[in-house]
Amino acid sequence: MKDGKHITMGIESSCDETAIAVLADGREILSNVISSQIEIHKAYGGVVPEIASRHHLNNIPFVFQQALAGAGVSLSDIDEIGVTAGPGLAGALLMGTAFAKAVSAASGVPLVGVHHIQAHIMANIIEHPQLEPPFLSLVVSGGHTHLIEVLGWNEFKILGATRDDAVGEAYDKVARVIGLGYPGGPKVDALAKEGDPHAIEFKRVYLEKDSLDFSFSGTKTGVINYLHSAEQRGEIVKPADVAASFQQAVIEVIVNKAVRAAKQCGYCELALAGGVACNSELRKQLGEALAKEGIGLYMPSPILCTDNGAMVAAAAYKKALEGHFATHHLDVYPGLNIESQLYKLDL
Ligand code: KG4
Ligand code: ZN
Repeated sequence: MKDGKHITMGIESSCDETAIAVLADGREILSNVISSQIEIHKAYGGVVPEIASRHHLNNIPFVFQQALAGAGVSLSDIDEIGVTAGPGLAGALLMGTAFAKAVSAASGVPLVGVHHIQAHIMANIIEHPQLEPPFLSLVVSGGHTHLIEVLGWNEFKILGATRDDAVGEAYDKVARVIGLGYPGGPKVDALAKEGDPHAIEFKRVYLEKDSLDFSFSGTKTGVINYLHSAEQRGEIVKPADVAASFQQAVIEVIVNKAVRAAKQCGYCELALAGGVACNSELRKQLGEALAKEGIGLYMPSPILCTDNGAMVAAAAYKKALEGHFATHHLDVYPGLNIESQLYKLDL
C-alpha cells in the first residue's frame, strides 16, 4: 500500500518503550506498535538502564516486523526512517539508532535523527494538522518539564525548564511513597479522583518573580515529610487526599506559568505534550485557564502522549520535507538540548 503517499517510519527507544510506527503523509497512522517494558521494571520501582537496553535489543526486530505488517507496507515503500537520537538513556538510544542505521544502510532508505522532545511536540500535529508554528508548547514528561517556543518545525526556544525533578518523576516518586508502585503518574491520577485536592496544602514553588522555570522537588519532599510525621504521630492518612493535594499543588504552578508564558509572549495557541499530558486534571485545568484568556489548547490523545513511534515519524516527516537528513555517522546524544546547533545541523 503506497498509493502515491509519502511513508515515514518512526523508531523510539529512548527509555522503556520499544516503539515503531508507520505514518502516511506525516499524520495518517498506518501502524503504531508499542512494546512496553513496564512490567519488567516494576519489580525495581523504576527503569533500570541496562535491562532496558537488553529488552530493546531483543524486541526491536519483532516490533519492526509488526509495524511493517500492520501498516501493510514493505521496506521499499518507506521514504525515510526517523529515529530518536537523544535525549534519553545512552544504551537504550543506541539500540534504536543502531537498528535504524542498519536498516537504512541495507535498504538505502534515508535516515532522519529526531530529538525526543521535538517528537513529543509533533504528536500534536497528527490529530491537529491546522497547528502551525509559531506556538507555545508545554512539555511534561518523566524526564522533562519545559515551556518551549516552537518558532519553526526545526527551531525552538526554551522559556523555562525544571531546575530539579521533572514533573513525571515527582509523580512517580510520590506514588512510590504512597505505595502505589511504578509507573506512578497514572495511578496518582486515578486515586486523586477519590480525594480532596485541598485537604493538605503542599508547597507551590514559583521561584523568582517572573521566572518560567519549575521546581518540584520541594513539593515532593513535602509529601514525604507529611507521611513521615503522620506515621510518627500515629495518625491515619488518606492516600487519596495526599494524591489529590500533591497533584493540585503541581498542576496549579504548571497552569499558572503556562498561562503567564503565553500571555507574556503573545501566543494564542498552546500545545501540551509528553507523558504527563495524559493527566486528566492537568488537561481539564489547563484547558479552563487558557480558555479564560482566549488561548486555544491542543493536546494529543493519551496513546500519543506517552512514548511512541508515531510522534517520531511525524517529526521525521517534517524534517525530511525541510531536507534535514542524517548520515550514517549518526550518534546518540543522551543530554541533547533542543536549542542546540548540533541538532540543527542534522546531528
Ligand atoms: O513521555 P513519557 O512516556 O516518557 C518520557 O519521555 O519521560 O512520560 C512518562 C511519564 C511517567 O513519569 C508517567 O508516570 C507519567 O508520564 N504519566 C502520567 C500520567 N500518565 C503517564 N503522569 C500523571 N498522570 C498521568 N495520567
Ligand atoms: Zn518521552
